[in-house]
Parts: sequence; C-alpha cells; structure tokens
Amino acid sequence: MAEAPGTRDPLSRRDLDPDPIAQFRVWLEDARDAGIRLPEAVALATVDAGGRPSVRHVLLRGLDERGFVFYTNYESRKGRELDANPWAGMAFYWRELDRQVCVSGTVGRTSREESEEYFRTRPREARVGAWASRQSEVASSREELDARYREIEARYPGDEVPLPPNWGGYRLAPEAVEFWKGREHRLHDRFRYTRRSNGSWAIERLYP
Ligand SMILES: Cc1cc2nc3c(=O)[nH]c(=O)nc-3n(C[C@H](O)[C@H](O)[C@H](O)COP(=O)(O)O)c2cc1C
Repeated sequence: MAEAPGTRDPLSRRDLDPDPIAQFRVWLEDARDAGIRLPEAVALATVDAGGRPSVRHVLLRGLDERGFVFYTNYESRKGRELDANPWAGMAFYWRELDRQVCVSGTVGRTSREESEEYFRTRPREARVGAWASRQSEVASSREELDARYREIEARYPGDEVPLPPNWGGYRLAPEAVEFWKGREHRLHDRFRYTRRSNGSWAIERLYP
C-alpha cells in the first residue's frame, strides 16, 4: 500500500496481498508508523471444555508463515483452555486507522527452543515475574505475590533466570483472517481469507 493510510481510505480487493500474513504485516507496520501505542495488543478468545468462551488481551510477539505467536503461562486459564480445545480467535483493533483484523484457527505450543530464545530477550524483572506469578490462580494478598517475587530473585541473583517449565509460547495457525476497514454510513469494507485444502487462500468480500 503506497499511500499513507487514512481513516477514510477504502479497502479494495486489488489492495490485498494474496497472502494474509503478508497483508497483516503491512497493516501492523502502518499501525506502528501511525504511532499507535502497543499495536501488537490483541484480544485472544479461547473456549473451555464446556464450550464457554473467555477473552483477554495478549501481545503478539512473533509472526511468520506458520502463524501468530504470543507467550503466557501454560497453567493460566487460557493455557488450560487451549490445551483442552485448540480453537482460538484473535482480534486486533487500530482505532486511529479504523482497522480491525480478526483471526481464527488452531493453536499449538511453540518449541522449547523458541520460547527460550524469546524469554532471554525479556528484562530480568519480567523473567523473575514469570516464575513468581501463578497466573489465573487466586492470590490471598498482594504481599504474597511480592514475597514470591523476592524469593525467586534470591534464588536467581544474577542475570541467569531460566525459562519456567510452565511458561512459553503458543502459535495460532490461521484458518481464516478477516481485514475490516471502517467506512462512512457503516458501509465498511470487509475481506475474509479462508485457507483452501491446497494451502492457497480464497478471498471474499463480506457484507459489513
Ligand atoms: C495490553 C495487554 C497485553 C497483555 N499481554 C499479555 C501477554 O502477552 N501474555 C500474558 O500471559 N498476559 C498478557 N496480558 C494479561 C492478560 O490479559 C491476562 O490478564 C492474563 O494473561 C491472564 O489471563 P487468563 O487468566 O485468561 O489466562 C496482557 C494484558 C494487557 C492489557
């Protein structure tokens, strides 16, 4: 997309890259260029074994032809839900550009090596915090969390804080990706990519 994205620019079929990951990269870059804070923030929906959905934000930390990567605690609510039911949805919203991208597909854990590589890039405090937090469990007090943090700090006094066994990445492999562009009078532009069995992508315009 050569021209600067404005909120009134239409989205037409000829603007779209045949590959949704390549198209997503263009929009993420546009969001960065527009100075949007945390353009990688994304709502992640998961479903429990009983079919009940839950949603929270995470940060997109990796993207390649295999899919969308985020990192978390494998024993958190989302982690337990994804291990029981790999189907998940994501929704990015870049308000200043009036753009949304919705992704759905199945999620699998990243390799231990990939998680380790990412974990090493995190500040020491974040690595200690990953050990300290029993994510999604009930905490009796803030003091309990702070005490756990200090305990882990004392256990790993240097910069070497290993990857916790219950922490790592998930990769969402997209089956469908929708690009939404707000337009006047609610006549928005929407295009949905769906993966064909041969691996190529079908692109269809949807009613807004
Ligand atoms: C902008 C934003 C980004 C976040 N990024 C992450 C993340 O990358 N990984 C993560 O585990 N939690 C992240 N969180 C916290 C989650 O929203 C959530 O509170 C936590 O993961 C526990 O979710 P769960 O109990 O549904 O598993 C983020 C929160 C916000 C507001």
